[in-house]
Amino acid sequence: MKKLLVIAQMLLLGFSSCVIEPEKNNKTNADMEMEKAFTDTLDGKKVQMFRLSNKGGMSVDFSNYGATVLAIQVPNKEGKMENVLLGYDSAKDLFAGKSYFGCIVGRYANRIANGKFSIDGQSFSAPQNNGVNSLHGGVNSIDKQVWDVKQMNDAISFSIKIKDGENGYPGEMNLTVIYSLREDNSLVIDYAATTDKPTLVNVTNHAYFNLTGDPSKTILDHDMMINASKFTPVDSTLIPTGELKEVRGTAFDFTAAKPIGKDIAANEQQLIYGLGYDHNFVFDSKDIKTPAVVVTEKTSGRKMEVFTTEPGVQFYSGNFLDGNEKGRGMAYQYRTGFCLETQHFPDSPNQPSFPTTLLKPGETWKSQTIYRFSTIK
Ligand code: BGC
Repeated sequence: MKKLLVIAQMLLLGFSSCVIEPEKNNKTNADMEMEKAFTDTLDGKKVQMFRLSNKGGMSVDFSNYGATVLAIQVPNKEGKMENVLLGYDSAKDLFAGKSYFGCIVGRYANRIANGKFSIDGQSFSAPQNNGVNSLHGGVNSIDKQVWDVKQMNDAISFSIKIKDGENGYPGEMNLTVIYSLREDNSLVIDYAATTDKPTLVNVTNHAYFNLTGDPSKTILDHDMMINASKFTPVDSTLIPTGELKEVRGTAFDFTAAKPIGKDIAANEQQLIYGLGYDHNFVFDSKDIKTPAVVVTEKTSGRKMEVFTTEPGVQFYSGNFLDGNEKGRGMAYQYRTGFCLETQHFPDSPNQPSFPTTLLKPGETWKSQTIYRFSTIK
């Protein structure tokens, strides 16, 4: 009866895609196995798997643990659906994960030098969980917590309350992340946050992509274009120096598409510090309609375009993957996934010339990023 009502409702409103709830049908045995593996309880809260799918057959799986994207199934040039994300096989593995696969990171994604910052003359300290620096919001941050879920017809909304003082950041923050799936194979991520005290906000998704669909292969042959004529060079601890450096004449020039692996081993100090690419690129355009990044992979024919309202992106070439993270029947090796973390620049609170990441009471921080998939011949 419930199923009939849902179908009738969808027909009436003409919904083009829908959320499959865990208890609904039309699933394969593999889908049911996966749902079971990703169902668990943590801190007295239920952890579940959710799926969005569209008419073309693209599907995206999520967990309310870390508001994580677990898998993205998209067609290759022959129409074969494959998962283009690195991911785990169970909720237990997700809980134990150390590489931020597919989750939402914040309240301050990326690094803050020594974990220290000040707001209105008051000093704050976030945990130094990455050498001397603070990375991705500290310890047991929102990527390691169970979020509230609201299922809509073509979208799923995750929300979380981050406590005042949690990981050293001031202000109780209400953060919502809405994932929606469009018929043109776009996964849209809408972020919104409010606070009751002045605080910092920089929230992103940390998915690792491998467009071949087979993450036993490296990502070095993927072609990448980044619409950025500048990047933020870093010191040996990956904290920006404050300079916006021209990419022209360096390995960081992705203004015309080139293979990720082409210059990755160049003898440049920035690549030595990053052990490859692990840098923030500064977009030339802030227009959500202009592709900020375009990645293509010839063997599968898959193409991914990234659109965003954010001023930058951390392009991370999977330099710390070393076989310790496992899933999909394999151990993920060096450079088998890349991240495109759309964001404000690292260490912005300590770099007055960078766009601000300050959020004040009464304001709503909003951000949108779209990953659109298609194929080339
Ligand atoms: C950072 C990398 C880090 C990775 C996984 C990226 O956002 O820039 O340095 O290794 O996240 O933690």
